[in-house]
Amino acid sequence: MYINPNDPSSRPAVTVPDLRRMKTAGEKIASLTAYDASFARAMDAAGIDIVLVGDSLGMVVHGSTNTVSVVLENMVYHSRCVAKGLSSALLIADMPFQTYASPSRALDAATALLAEGMASMVKLEGSGFVLDAIDHLTTREIPVCAHLGMTPQSVLRMGGFKVQGRGSEAANSLLAQAQQVEAAGAQLLVLECVPSVLAAKITRSINIPTIGIGAGLDCDGQILVSYDALGINSGHRRPRFVKDFLKGRDSIEAAFRAYVSEVKSGEFPKTEHGYN
Ligand code: KIV
Repeated sequence: MYINPNDPSSRPAVTVPDLRRMKTAGEKIASLTAYDASFARAMDAAGIDIVLVGDSLGMVVHGSTNTVSVVLENMVYHSRCVAKGLSSALLIADMPFQTYASPSRALDAATALLAEGMASMVKLEGSGFVLDAIDHLTTREIPVCAHLGMTPQSVLRMGGFKVQGRGSEAANSLLAQAQQVEAAGAQLLVLECVPSVLAAKITRSINIPTIGIGAGLDCDGQILVSYDALGINSGHRRPRFVKDFLKGRDSIEAAFRAYVSEVKSGEFPKTEHGYN
């Protein structure tokens, strides 16, 4: 951890190596998505560890039905906005659909997200051909967060947002993919809509931290789309892993504080927020 020289009174900045240390220490990692500086500032003040500029931007901000329409320019712009609101939390930016279809495209896109978007890590979805992109980025000093399970950019192939890894064949395949993204150099792994027992097994089987969303309480950390965590219905069906932290509280920052506190203490998620 290091102290922000622009604001020495702030809590220490969360760094990429801190994430592994937190896993080893059993300290839960609390993450939320943000798309602008004001929300980012409120989350940072609430003690969030990671802020993700997710390509969920396409759904909750642009009003699209999926994330496929988000382009690199959108992500760079919103990442830069969010960066201006942060003093301590680690900033991760999503790589949009097809920007990592080849390792060289991935390097160009990730460089823009770090250099112009001021992110400290990029996130990309899937395994298979994506492993080459992860290797290409991480051997060139670009920290990578992998994302497995329900990968929203695959919605057209998957035919909807569905739980992944059910049944022994699919579960073994997902476990193998998690080990492959770690071997390719990823330093963090998001598991989305995966049976809780499988997410726990994956978390125990790899050394990098797992961040769950609809993946049970045994992941090393949790993430929610901030609009979901505030009970804002963006016109989509409310998934079971969502909780409204604004309910009964009088400010957005209080809601974010409650989220951080419940993730850190293991109070959120509960069994009913996960899948079998
Ligand atoms: O785009 C996004 O917000 C995400 C999170 C849901 C993990 O990828």
